Amino acid sequence: MLDALKYLLGSFGASGYGSKSTAEEVTENCPDLGSVTAVITGATSGIGAETARVLAKRGARLVLPARSLKAAEEAKARIVAEFPNSEIVVMALDLSSLDSVRCFVSEFESLDLPLNLLINNAGKFTHEHAISEDGIEMTFATNYLGHFLLTKLLLNKMIETAKKTGVQGRIVNVSSTIHSWFSGDVIRYLGLITRNKSQYDATRAYAVSKLANVLHTKELAQRLKQMDANVTVNCVHPGIVRTRLTRETEGIVTDLIFFLTSKFLKTIPQAAATTCYVATHPRLVNVSGKYFADCNEAWTSKLGSNSQEASRLWSASEIMTARDSRAIFDPLDASD
Ligand SMILES: NC(=O)c1ccc[n+]([C@@H]2O[C@H](COP(=O)([O-])OP(=O)(O)OC[C@H]3O[C@@H](n4cnc5c(N)ncnc54)[C@H](OP(=O)(O)O)[C@@H]3O)[C@@H](O)[C@H]2O)c1
Repeated sequence: MLDALKYLLGSFGASGYGSKSTAEEVTENCPDLGSVTAVITGATSGIGAETARVLAKRGARLVLPARSLKAAEEAKARIVAEFPNSEIVVMALDLSSLDSVRCFVSEFESLDLPLNLLINNAGKFTHEHAISEDGIEMTFATNYLGHFLLTKLLLNKMIETAKKTGVQGRIVNVSSTIHSWFSGDVIRYLGLITRNKSQYDATRAYAVSKLANVLHTKELAQRLKQMDANVTVNCVHPGIVRTRLTRETEGIVTDLIFFLTSKFLKTIPQAAATTCYVATHPRLVNVSGKYFADCNEAWTSKLGSNSQEASRLWSASEIMTARDSRAIFDPLDASD
């Protein structure tokens, strides 16, 4: 109750920011990002587009991978129109395809750019059950598995950049408070919805993918620490905001739901604030493995803080993203 009131009032937390802070406000006093190169997924619309706009405003060089180059060029044009000196590279990437992730990384490496910041923001929510070309349920493949491989393949570049520049690298995973709606066995549920269309529930599938973002953050933070890498990883809940995420359910009922809940909704500049805060704020140097909401550290679900589950998901993800592991969950085998 008190939390809801604080949220509605936009009260500031320990960071000095709250639910109503915007991405521009939280980056106002951040150091000049002129020497920072950032990869931001899902920057063609919504929260990612605003994150990209504000980081460009603060001087960062942006690499915007997108499945539609046309949409990415349009996103770039909007930013350049506002900040003509921005340096923005647009590249192809479909996160639901592991081959596409590998191609993107090899193209990115050929540019020989440094990499300081990786923002894993892209995401989808869909009522339609689908299987990725790698044989994995599509929401999980897009929201989590593609980002898992992307991060793994870009990690050496980030570690190397941090070593050369002495500036700590940061990875930000965009999750959701909905991660807490899933309880149970992540891998077992993934197998079930991959093999069996009738078991698919769009909200639960979305929740498990967002829980995977939280568990990924936890395990990666641990591994970065063990490697003594000067790179941190944290995850965020941006808040609830009307974007193209609900594009499939556009209509009068959705309009009504958004109208009735409008007091709890953020604007897009507010929703991009937590990502931008975690990506840039000097206070967060050496802070890793944490979950943030409304620009303040927050609690994950019990399952989200389970180290065993995080390590188990990591091992399964290594298998699922290995080149020769097609159809780890055989869609023809509907047995559980
Ligand atoms: N909106 C909310 O209330 C809310 C709440 C909590 C968390 N989130 C999270 O915030 C993040 C951003 O979502 P949003 O609300 O800004 O939604 P959005 O406007 O729909 O943006 C999603 C972005 O992800 C990209 N994307 C989707 N599938 C992709 C794929 N296979 N490969 C590459 N890019 C892909 C989209 O590109 P296209 O242009 O190609 O579609 C778009 O740029 C997501 O991770 C979402 O789960 C949102």
